[in-house]
Amino acid sequence: MKLFTPLFTVLFSCAIAFSAQAKDQRDYHEMVYDSGCKTCHDQGMKAFPSDEACLQCHDMGELAKQTQRKGHEAAQNPHDSMHYGQEAPCMECHGEHTTKQAICMDCHNFDYPKFK
Ligand code: HEC
Ligand code: HEC
Ligand code: HEC
Ligand code: HEC
Repeated sequence: MKLFTPLFTVLFSCAIAFSAQAKDQRDYHEMVYDSGCKTCHDQGMKAFPSDEACLQCHDMGELAKQTQRKGHEAAQNPHDSMHYGQEAPCMECHGEHTTKQAICMDCHNFDYPKFK
């Protein structure tokens, strides 16, 4: 058994290095990466960040104002919608290392020109 241990260790550390490798990053979050992955990954590197991590820097009330709409489109505000109010988790719509679309688009075809 002992002979195999070093090889196993090498393979194992490779696996860790690989899984912890930086994936696709959003340009607009460059400064967040400068402070380290854990700025977002508050629940460890093997789990998705919590909403609280995003809310350190973003404010749901402010976001709701930024994406406010008028007239018959008012209820299409993704940050204050008729189905979920301000309670929908960020990651239902926004990806960091992956490309997503707003969950609303599963069922609707709204125009969200500012979506990233
Ligand atoms: C340490 C601060 C910080 C954290 C944590 C953070 N962000 Fe950001 N985020 C920023 C800054 C700064 C910008 C660029 C300025 C801006 O557009 O608000 C930005 C930009 C964005 C944008 C693009 C805004 C645009 O320009 O259209 C989205 C979407 C976004 N963040 C979502 C998230 C989500 C989701 C999370 C949690 C997974 C998160 N952010 C965590 C600071 C942060
Ligand atoms: C701005 C916030 C933010 C930063 C900074 C960030 N991540 Fe993430 N990470 C996310 C989000 C959001 C997800 C959920 C999947 C997705 O949307 O891409 C995620 C998912 C992951 C996953 C997948 C976890 C799983 O359960 O499948 C890994 C691995 C990961 N990130 C690694 C990293 C590493 C390594 C860094 C630093 C180089 C980093 N992340 C920095 C927001 C961030
Ligand atoms: C699983 C499917 C589904 C998802 C996801 C979904 N909706 Fe809906 N939505 C519906 C259905 C079905 C109706 C029609 C029910 C009704 O009018 O009472 C509706 C109605 C609406 C209406 C009123 C009718 C219209 O088209 O103007 C708005 C506005 C709306 N949704 C916004 C949103 C927003 C914003 C999101 C994302 C935050 C979202 N929906 C996500 C299924 C969905
Ligand atoms: C239901 C889907 C959904 C959820 C949940 C959601 N967003 Fe958004 N977000 C969007 C869409 C869609 C846009 C673009 C709206 C538009 O084009 O009018 C957007 C825009 C933004 C912007 C850019 C605002 C601007 O004025 O350019 C930021 C920053 C952002 N979201 C961050 C977040 C954060 C942080 C969370 C969680 C606290 C969150 N979002 C939750 C769908 C969502």
